[in-house]
Amino acid sequence: MAVLVTGGAGYIGSQTCVHLLEAGKEIVVIDNFSNSSPKSSQAVREITGKDFPLIECDIRDEEKLDEVFSQYDIDSVIHFAGLKAVGESCQKPLEYYDNNIGGTVKLLSVMRKHGVKCIVFSSSATVYGEKHTAPFNEEMEAGGTTNPYGTTKLFIEQILKDLAASDPEWSVSLLRYFNPIGAHISGKIGEAPNGIPNNLMPYISQVAVGKREKLSVFGDDYDTPDGTGVRDYIHVADLADGHVVALDRALSVKGCEIFNLGTGKGVSVLELVNAFQKATGVKVPYVITARRPGDIATSYADPSKAERILGWKAKRDIFDACRDTWNWQKNNPNGFDD
Ligand code: NAD
Ligand code: UD1
Repeated sequence: MAVLVTGGAGYIGSQTCVHLLEAGKEIVVIDNFSNSSPKSSQAVREITGKDFPLIECDIRDEEKLDEVFSQYDIDSVIHFAGLKAVGESCQKPLEYYDNNIGGTVKLLSVMRKHGVKCIVFSSSATVYGEKHTAPFNEEMEAGGTTNPYGTTKLFIEQILKDLAASDPEWSVSLLRYFNPIGAHISGKIGEAPNGIPNNLMPYISQVAVGKREKLSVFGDDYDTPDGTGVRDYIHVADLADGHVVALDRALSVKGCEIFNLGTGKGVSVLELVNAFQKATGVKVPYVITARRPGDIATSYADPSKAERILGWKAKRDIFDACRDTWNWQKNNPNGFDD
């Protein structure tokens, strides 16, 4: 039996493939490579010494999905495939709704047709919106998302809840990631954003490698200890471990469950910059600029539910993540194009 990994060539997907293979799972990967390269899957094979099928397939292509489910013995799905750029989603909302929501509905329909009713979904802390105060826990009402990307996560969560409510055979695990950073310890796979990075860690590492002149710190007048935004940065390897245990749980327990995957610790922008400089010995010049519209002051998880039910807890810290990001970035300044 294999787990189908959609978007498995991407940043979090490729890292999770390594952990799944190391846990002895069989995997089948599909991706349309709209934001990734087949080279990441080749690197996963090199890291693990294990082979697996990698199929170019868009989740909106029902016929092709049907073929994949007919060809392989699939019992579960980890669903990473999606578009994720917040700014772009405001410019292209229809493309985001079509790709993320439309694609998920097609995937679920084909799963149901083949009797595969177990799914782990990549959701985001963005579904907590702006009205709650950190730490965020799974009991808090989701909603009030501030951009179409976030709204796709909220809607997909609802679709999956409705599906689980309609048929007791379904197992659904909604994983709300906080801020994934870091890379595989080998430096062979990591985050390779197209164009100018939107997120903090890839921006820092591109400044460090000389691709960008300096970091803009978006605001130092927030109500936080040093005035800069506070987030819960989780090492991608811890996130990947979370998927392996969430999948095992979903394979044995029916119904819909939600888990935060975060560290429970808030780290400011300047703390992350300092940690990066300390972990790598490389200077990261920065300037303080205006706040970024839509940003909140503080976001971090209450991760206790995942620890209680999944026995999962983040083990790596921001220094590990900075070291691993740098190892990836300095050896691959242009990502998989190198
Ligand atoms: P990523 O862009 O590296 O990975 C997504 C993968 O999905 C890419 O390989 C892309 O080519 C593929 N894809 C996109 N649309 C597709 C489609 N229609 N058919 C097939 N493949 C498709 O992003 P990531 O950071 O690895 O994120 C993985 C998932 O986790 C996404 O759903 C994202 O929204 C979610 N997430 C990410 C973060 C983060 O900060 N990285 C935070 C919360 C949630
Ligand atoms: C952003 C998205 C969120 C998405 C998440 C995915 C926005 C408004 N939110 O969250 O929906 O789920 O990415 O990881 O885009 N910062 C700088 N300079 C930079 C970049 C960021 O100072 O060049 C600051 C931000 O103001 C924030 C922190 O760094 O305080 C983290 O930013 P980022 O990595 O973009 O993550 P989020 O804002 O948490």
